[in-house]
Amino acid sequence: PASPVLLGIETSCDDTAAAVLDGTTLRSNVVSSQHDVHADYGGIVPELASRNHERYIGPVVQHALDEADCAPGDLDGVAVTCGPGLPGALLVGLSFAKSFGYAARCPVVGVNHLEGHLYSTHITGQGPPMPYLSLIVSGGHTQLVHVSDIGSYTVLGQTRDDAAGEAFDKVAQMLDLDYPGGPAVDRRAQQGDPTFHDFPRSRFDDLSFSFSGLKTSVLYFLRDIPEGERDAFVEAHRADICASFQQAVVDVLVDAVRRAALDTGVEHVAVVGGVSANRGLRDALQMLGTEQDLHIHLPDPQFCMDNAAMIAASARMHWPTTSPLTLDINPRLTL
Ligand code: KG4
Ligand code: ZN
Repeated sequence: PASPVLLGIETSCDDTAAAVLDGTTLRSNVVSSQHDVHADYGGIVPELASRNHERYIGPVVQHALDEADCAPGDLDGVAVTCGPGLPGALLVGLSFAKSFGYAARCPVVGVNHLEGHLYSTHITGQGPPMPYLSLIVSGGHTQLVHVSDIGSYTVLGQTRDDAAGEAFDKVAQMLDLDYPGGPAVDRRAQQGDPTFHDFPRSRFDDLSFSFSGLKTSVLYFLRDIPEGERDAFVEAHRADICASFQQAVVDVLVDAVRRAALDTGVEHVAVVGGVSANRGLRDALQMLGTEQDLHIHLPDPQFCMDNAAMIAASARMHWPTTSPLTLDINPRLTL
C-alpha cells in the first residue's frame, strides 16, 4: 500500500514512545517520559534509561495499539529508531521491534532518529515542498540541512561543541531549574527581560554553531556575583537571565537560518527537534518569515520532542523500502 499502517517505536534517549500511523492519519501517539527518573541526576543516566525502556516498551506499544483500535495483524510494518542514540536504549527498541514484527508477520523499517525529526513536519500532511531547509535543534543535535529529496540531505552546518538543547539544559541546571531545562527556561523567559544581560552570540561564516561559549558566559556571569548575594540575585532575576540567554540562542539560530536561506535561495524553511518547541524561537522565526518572504514550517508542539509518530512518518516517506532482520543499531548514525 502507498499509505501503509505503521507502528512506530522510539527509544533512542529517555522517552519510550509508540504510535500508530495510518497513511497520514495518526491513530495514536503515546510517549512515556522518564524525566522524573533522570531529574535527580541533572541529565540522562544511560543504564537507567535502558532499564526503563525495557520496563515500559511493552505497555507503551500495547497502549498505542489499543488507542488506535489496531491489532498486530492490521499492521503493514514496524518502524523503529536504530540510531543515533544511547546504545542500550536503542537495543531495547530494536529487539522489541524485530520480535514484534516477526510475530505479526510484517517487516521492520530501521529509521534514523534525525530523519525522524526531519519528517516531524510531515506526519499528518505533505510537509514543506522540496527543496527546503531544515534546522534540527534538539538535545543532541544542531544541524542545518538542505533537503533536496527523500533521502538526499546536505548538512550545511552543525554545532562545533554543544547542541542548542544541551545549552538550555545546562543553563537551567545553573539556575536550579528542573530537567529537561528547555521548557523550564522557555517558561521563565516569558516573564523576563531579554536585554537584562548581553550574552555573546557566536557566528561563523561556514554556518556552523557553537553554544559552549554562551554556556560558559552564563556560568561566569553567575560566578562573578559575590557569593553571599548570589542566591538572592538568581531568585530576583531568574526570569531575566533565562530571557537574556534564550534571546542569544534564538538570535544565533535565526541568523543562521536567514543566511542559509539567502545562500540556497529556498522559499521554505522547517525547524524541528525539541528546541523548536521554544516560544521565543517560534515567534522570531515567524518574524523572519515575514521579513524575508520565507514560508516557515514548525511541527505541532507535540511532535517537537522525541515521539514515535515522526519515526513512523519517516518510514512512510521511504515506503515500501524495509530493512532485513539483520538490521543493527548504530549509535553514531548521521544523516
Ligand atoms: O528532540 P528532543 O526531544 O530529544 C533529542 O533528540 O535530543 O530534544 C530534547 C531537547 C532538550 O535539550 C530540551 O531541553 C529541549 O529539547 N527543549 C527545549 C524546549 N522544549 C524542549 N528547549 C527550549 N525550549 C523549549 N520549549
Ligand atoms: Zn530527538
